[in-house]
Amino acid sequence: MTLFGLIRKLEKLSRSIVTQLRYRRNLGGFCRSIVMQLRYRNLHAGLFYLGRGSQIDVGPNANIHFGRGVNFTRDFSGVFYGNVTFGDRVWFNRGCYVSVHGGLSIGDYSMFGEGASIHDENHVIGSSSEPLPLRGFVVKPITIGKNVWVGAKATILQGVHIGDNAVIGANAVVTHDIPANTIVGGIPARIIRELRVAE
Ligand SMILES: CC(C)(COP(=O)(O)OP(=O)(O)OC[C@H]1O[C@@H](n2cnc3c(N)ncnc32)[C@H](O)[C@@H]1OP(=O)(O)O)[C@@H](O)C(=O)NCCC(=O)NCCS
Repeated sequence: MTLFGLIRKLEKLSRSIVTQLRYRRNLGGFCRSIVMQLRYRNLHAGLFYLGRGSQIDVGPNANIHFGRGVNFTRDFSGVFYGNVTFGDRVWFNRGCYVSVHGGLSIGDYSMFGEGASIHDENHVIGSSSEPLPLRGFVVKPITIGKNVWVGAKATILQGVHIGDNAVIGANAVVTHDIPANTIVGGIPARIIRELRVAE
């Protein structure tokens, strides 16, 4: 065998090893999703991907629907106690945190950068003799449209609606509704510019 032939062979071999490793990792992610579906009757989903280190806590009264190809990359944390609806191919990058006590709906193809978080609950604040942890939550549902891109470490707070195709800048805190086709950023998130919509 020539040196060239040997290099080609080694290249092929290393490629197939990488493919195998990737396949095994993906297999783990899909197996975790199957275990979740067997464990929770109120989780209605096709095959989704649940990366390593991810945890989804499903409450007894939750009602959860995932579309096709939903992807939770590594270290996702979900507290799903309310109505959760994710469209097709909703995608969470590493380390996102989503807490739903009332409702959360996310449209098809929306994506979340690493460390993004969503909270539809607030602790009950104000003066009261009752200790803060025992007062429960105030809950307002959140809706996020289709094709929305949420930048890394952005936080979406209770009661907001984010329109289709919106872009939420890195580190933004979304406290009010965001119109469709806009880019927003900052704390609180404000419009940076509007996006031109193709006819
Ligand atoms: C929001 C974002 C998409 C805007 O990109 P852009 O359209 O190219 O905007 P520009 O860089 O031209 O910035 C326009 C203005 O918005 C400001 N701006 C940009 N990003 C901002 C952010 N995240 N928060 C606050 N202001 C921001 C800029 O400072 C600039 O302000 P100026 O005109 O006063 O100088 C981008 O900055 C961003 O935050 N991307 C997220 C990246 C990320 O999280 N990646 C993870 C991949 S999953």
